Amino acid sequence: MLTQAQNDLLTRTGPGTPCGEFLRSYWQPIAASEEIPPGGDPLPIRIMSEDLVLFRDDKDRLGLIQRNCPHRGTDLSYGRIEDGGIRCLYHGWLFDVNGKCIDQPAEKRKFCDTVPMKSYPVQEKGGAIWTYMGKGEPPMIPDFQFLVGPEANRQTFRTLQTCNWLQGLESVIDPAHTTYLHRRPKGTRSIRSGNDVNAMRGTAPPEVTTEPTSFGMRIYALHEGGSNGKYLRINNYVYPCGATPTTGNAGSGYQGRWYVPADDGSHYYFEFIYKNAQPVDKDALRKFREENVAPDMRHVRRAENRYMQDRIEMKGPDGTFCGMGEYFPAQDAFAIETQGVIRDRTTENLGSTDIVIASMFRTLLKAIQQMQDGKEAPGLVRDKNYLSDFVCFEGPIAETEDGPSQCRKLLAAKTAAE
Ligand code: FES
Ligand SMILES: [Fe+2]
Repeated sequence: MLTQAQNDLLTRTGPGTPCGEFLRSYWQPIAASEEIPPGGDPLPIRIMSEDLVLFRDDKDRLGLIQRNCPHRGTDLSYGRIEDGGIRCLYHGWLFDVNGKCIDQPAEKRKFCDTVPMKSYPVQEKGGAIWTYMGKGEPPMIPDFQFLVGPEANRQTFRTLQTCNWLQGLESVIDPAHTTYLHRRPKGTRSIRSGNDVNAMRGTAPPEVTTEPTSFGMRIYALHEGGSNGKYLRINNYVYPCGATPTTGNAGSGYQGRWYVPADDGSHYYFEFIYKNAQPVDKDALRKFREENVAPDMRHVRRAENRYMQDRIEMKGPDGTFCGMGEYFPAQDAFAIETQGVIRDRTTENLGSTDIVIASMFRTLLKAIQQMQDGKEAPGLVRDKNYLSDFVCFEGPIAETEDGPSQCRKLLAAKTAAE
């Protein structure tokens, strides 16, 4: 449970807010690269209550600048790409990728050099375009495998969810819901990962523990007593709004997720789907997504159609738990969007598996306090881009092992391999 003040602190992310400053201290993904290929159209971007436009100029350089023209406010995302920049449709002012005004064709006495324009640096990595909106020297975007692994093994998407960013982040580190919300008929496999998503079904609730790491927080969920023997998942919370859920079966892969506020009532959910040692089936992933995400970037299943819940689908041994089809992200969207736009965390009744959520809140509050005390945000990668203590795992483990001992083995193997 949080106090009202703490809930406000963690959910308000506009310019100048403490949480907004915290989130702005790291690079944030703003679009999937596929959304703006070379020669592609400008994209309106809303991030942390700021309206921007992402565009490629006629040399395919990327720029991110304020959306409203500094002349009289017309939306630049409708602009023309020409002459080394983006040209406003109203009076033809032209801006380059750094936001510099380079032409004012309708002006007798030009004053390009004194036109103020907000712009932010951009970088492409892991199939996404990222921006840094913080103060001072930007850190690096960490070299997670799901960002730097072979391109064929990765696929990146973004989707809009109509609730506060923190609800999205909570849902991905929640260790208990998979067995319920996402339960599918016995023996079936996830369409997206190909893995057995029922691996933990029928086991006792997991023993959940967390520990701090250089990049955020490690989360152990240990299931015992099922047909798999001891079954462990190591997921991670990653500063400032990311996580790395596993997708079943040790070694096959995992996902990076980022939950980036559009404003305080909606957020973009980035999926960095990744396989360690094999290509992902991009065509199948894109097709499955196209069937489930509408052109407005929201899930086809949404509150307006009651998430198309089908109660017949829920019946019998072959039924799903929630009656909302096969697309897990839409099921998660149902769970978090129906909590309310900003969930009231002052009246919750938390249980044993919710210690993960509570630990994450403490981690976030500590990070924000650290910044309010005048220090740098935690976990910024500045020198060596290597996360020596990062590990992600899911699978059966030996009876003699537990979460931390398995983690130490995996980290030792990782060090030996490098
Ligand atoms: S409003 Fe953009 S050029 Fe006038
Ligand atoms: Fe989920």
